[in-house]
Amino acid sequence: MKKKKKLRLSFIGGGKMAEALVRGLLDSGAYTRSQIEVGEPDGGRRDALKEAYGIRVAKTNVSVVSRADVCILAVKPQEIASVLDEIGPHLSAHVLVISIAAGISTHWIRERSGKARKIVRAMPNAAALVGESATGLYFRPRIGEEAKKVAMGIFGSVGETVVVDKEEHLNIVTGLSGSGPAYVFLFLEALTDAGVYLGLSRDVAARLALQTVRGSVGMATELDKSFAALREIIASPGGTTVAGLKALEEGAVRAALTKAVEMATRRSEELSL
Ligand SMILES: NC(=O)c1ccc[n+]([C@@H]2O[C@H](COP(=O)([O-])OP(=O)(O)OC[C@H]3O[C@@H](n4cnc5c(N)ncnc54)[C@H](OP(=O)(O)O)[C@@H]3O)[C@@H](O)[C@H]2O)c1
Repeated sequence: MKKKKKLRLSFIGGGKMAEALVRGLLDSGAYTRSQIEVGEPDGGRRDALKEAYGIRVAKTNVSVVSRADVCILAVKPQEIASVLDEIGPHLSAHVLVISIAAGISTHWIRERSGKARKIVRAMPNAAALVGESATGLYFRPRIGEEAKKVAMGIFGSVGETVVVDKEEHLNIVTGLSGSGPAYVFLFLEALTDAGVYLGLSRDVAARLALQTVRGSVGMATELDKSFAALREIIASPGGTTVAGLKALEEGAVRAALTKAVEMATRRSEELSL
């Protein structure tokens, strides 16, 4: 593999996730515009990406991968088979293939990736759109440290990365952090509704709910304490917070969250190839 500065990144698919990654890579200074190219069938999307980021765009995927050191598969899972039929024969042995398609195994990709041996799977989440993704990565054995560094650098440009050592754990990543933003939005909505129910205006309740979650995340990030210890800072004996927490426990919020992650994980397993 060539030196990092000169790596050529090709995205197959120029949708929301590809755009988030392009923005993160350019904003972080990890890559320059001339290193990035996107293959995308939709002319409007191609023009928008070219205009916003000054990167190269192409209609045909084959021309894009023929110049690639790293090929990022950023199409919907149902498009992956036809994309690999098209580009697989043109992937050379040195190319690092990174797939963000949910549920498509590295074995399945490897079998359709021609000479390419280095395959990585990544599961980012929607917060990549604002540079705050939680991304789980899985590396096939013997992929090499350099390839790992490159993949982690790419997803590190749009947030936090974790590495799982079993590929099936990506289903849990999908159920926890992949779907996670939706759970948090539901929580924000419910907290806001509760404030409205008790008499606050929707705007005031929503602002309080949002800043409460933001502030709690800030505390959890900056203070070196477990989540349980952080909760105890606020929940003084006999006070208001323990009364609220008791109601949450009676409402089986913990059990519901466990079930939510479990069901999403099972669904991810069912959809996997
Ligand atoms: N969004 C998320 O939060 C998220 C999180 C984790 C993983 N992912 C994964 O990321 C992948 C992309 O998701 P997304 O949200 O970015 O979807 P998206 O916005 O629909 O982007 C997919 C893009 O690929 C293009 N495309 C379709 N067929 C193609 C082909 N044959 N060659 C090249 N490009 C093609 C689509 O163009 P057209 O619109 O013209 O069809 C579209 O622009 C998915 O596999 C998804 O599972 C997404």
